[in-house]
Amino acid sequence: MNLANSNSQQAPGPEGVVSINVEPASLKTLRDLQARYGNVVEFEAPGDRRGMFINDPACVRRLLVRHHPKYRKGRGFERVEMLLGNGLIVSDGDVWRRSRTMIQPAFSRQNVHQLEALMIDCTKHKLAAWQSVAAAGEVLNVTQEMSDFALELILRAIFSDDYETRILSGGENPFAFLSQDATRDLSVVLKLRQLRELLLDIIASRRAGHASNSYDFLSMYLTAVDKQGQAFSDRELLDELMTLIVAGYETSAGTLNWAWYLLAHHPEAADKLQAEAAAYGTAFEGAADDPALTGLNWSQQVLDETLRLYPPVWLFSRRSLESDEIEGYAIPANADVYLSPFILQRSSEFWSDPDSFKPERFGPDGPYQKGDRPFFPFSLGPRRCLGEYFSFLEMKIHLGMLSQQFRLLPVTEQHPGLDLGINLRSLSDIQLKPELRH
Ligand code: HEM
Repeated sequence: MNLANSNSQQAPGPEGVVSINVEPASLKTLRDLQARYGNVVEFEAPGDRRGMFINDPACVRRLLVRHHPKYRKGRGFERVEMLLGNGLIVSDGDVWRRSRTMIQPAFSRQNVHQLEALMIDCTKHKLAAWQSVAAAGEVLNVTQEMSDFALELILRAIFSDDYETRILSGGENPFAFLSQDATRDLSVVLKLRQLRELLLDIIASRRAGHASNSYDFLSMYLTAVDKQGQAFSDRELLDELMTLIVAGYETSAGTLNWAWYLLAHHPEAADKLQAEAAAYGTAFEGAADDPALTGLNWSQQVLDETLRLYPPVWLFSRRSLESDEIEGYAIPANADVYLSPFILQRSSEFWSDPDSFKPERFGPDGPYQKGDRPFFPFSLGPRRCLGEYFSFLEMKIHLGMLSQQFRLLPVTEQHPGLDLGINLRSLSDIQLKPELRH
């Protein structure tokens, strides 16, 4: 055993090999480990390696923030790399640092606000569609609706007018399979590869001078340069665009899916959200750069509580590059390290009544103020999600506009179940009945 320094102790843990993956069985394994051995557990992982499960808020923060250079992305990211290439989510070290520095300005608050009118427009499509569903007394497949909404939004945020003229030019959206097929198996990898040709065409045409007529991520990515003045190659751009499409829609779609489910089962929270949105009135009418919508405090609390209960990235994995010591525990070199927002954010040690939906716990008088929450749905530190501000704005606009028109009612009391894959989704699609508010 390679202890980082003589004062650190080895964390307790079981005998025998423990294998952790993004799959339902691993949730039970991790919970059992935590119940039996505590918040920092060490075990033998496959491949003659050590494994660690860290479920202590201070240790999680330290690992992701201060000790971040000692870790890279861990087990399971080979699968993500097959899907997305070596884009920002997968890359490490200097490659990641260069891309992150080049891409980060595209996500500044000022730039994201330029996409506000687009967020409003995509929500209006849903308003119109839901009106006919409500008039016919039919039920909405909210899971599918959220996937469609978030996919349309991210594609238009990346490609602006090329979305209509090039992506939809064949009559159908060639990316639609992403929102219709929840599996991320080989057939999806192959379909994504075919889409690369289409993306290369769009990149070539932009490089040839066909600029977009409004702000979009692709134009920001095309003009970004590193410290040496080098722009992204076509290959690098392809990987970054694929990453942005998948990272940017699945997580927001999943969060909105659960938010509607929770609001349907907590009508008082839904009414409060509607009243708050109504008070913002014209802010939802599409005035670009309107900072008013970043307020919406109750909506923020509802979304925080949704992300606490159903964090889309429910399991993080890291690989230690060297031996380390965190809060007195030794982390061996080359170890598989696991962190789970899903488990920590539902731990009764840190949250009262942890499985209940209580957005008020995130309010100004609630127990959790920013900084000291055992809460990390967007990760923490230098690799924290780049799309956090974008996704909150998107989700607040979506919920605020639609709640003013509709109340969504449950059609069953049965929980849809958890699908614990790369992302946490609902096992069965969530069906809700829209009712016009007036
Ligand atoms: C509710 C919505 C979202 C959640 C919960 C979420 C969560 C996360 C998490 C946990 C990570 C870090 C994963 C890890 O380190 O292993 C991450 C990274 C990332 N996310 Fe998000 N995300 C969301 C929305 C978005 C959106 C809308 C975009 C883009 C428009 C986006 C773009 C990215 C990118 C580019 C990274 C990689 C950052 C880096 O490694 O430097 N995300 N996200």
